[in-house]
Amino acid sequence: MGKTIAIVNQKGGAGKTTTATFLAEALSGNKKKVLLVDLDPLSCLAKRYSIEPGTTHSLADCMEGRSSLEQCICQANSEGMEIALGHHNLIGFEITAMHQEDRESILAKQMNELKAKYDFVLIDTPSSLGLLTMNALVAADEVVIPIKCDYTIFDGMAELLRTIDDVSNSLNSKLRITGFLVTHVNSQLRSTAINLKEIQTCYGDSVLHTIIPDSEDLRDSFQQLAAELLN
Ligand SMILES: Nc1ncnc2c1ncn2[C@@H]1O[C@H](COP(=O)(O)OP(=O)(O)O)[C@@H](O)[C@H]1O
Ligand SMILES: [Mg+2]
Repeated sequence: MGKTIAIVNQKGGAGKTTTATFLAEALSGNKKKVLLVDLDPLSCLAKRYSIEPGTTHSLADCMEGRSSLEQCICQANSEGMEIALGHHNLIGFEITAMHQEDRESILAKQMNELKAKYDFVLIDTPSSLGLLTMNALVAADEVVIPIKCDYTIFDGMAELLRTIDDVSNSLNSKLRITGFLVTHVNSQLRSTAINLKEIQTCYGDSVLHTIIPDSEDLRDSFQQLAAELLN
């Protein structure tokens, strides 16, 4: 049975989109069948995979009931990785769905029919704890939390952990945290060792062993993360 992982942190610039894309590519390079769900109205991953806008329906259509999730999916790369296309109109969903009864479970219901096709479904989320992120948490089995290794490590973390706890106590009892992924690690900075120690002290065994450096070439680091998650 496949695994659905939401990449979540309401802080912008933490490395969510970077983690979702590089990890999806690393897993698909390991012959895993991967679906990347681009649930951030601002990220527009279609460009990264040279997909013309309008090729298929987008997640904005899916979340607002105009299409199925399957109709938003297209091939992302030659390795067979697939992507459910995002759209800036997703921002409207947070408002239009506000009074809808099943508003937090729309993605989960759509994914129920598709999950079995994939080894991994990775969901990139917006930098907020709004309705789109709630949908990701309700649809997911696990959460990876990227943390930027700087003085803002703990910003917003208490609310995020409370939200994950709330979702696991209500709408999605199977939800668990895979781990905290430390990103943007610059070993040249003196503050880095202190920040890493603080993260370790606070989150202990929940900190993933793989560390993502501050670097232009992240492929090997995400290969290492893929191997850690596959173990
Ligand atoms: N490990 C890293 N090293 C260098 N640059 C990074 C790293 N991770 C992310 N970035 C850059 O930082 C910016 C924010 O990252 P992104 O993944 O978009 O964050 P988020 O999705 O959490 O807002 C992007 O320009 C991205 O290219
Ligand atoms: Mg992003």
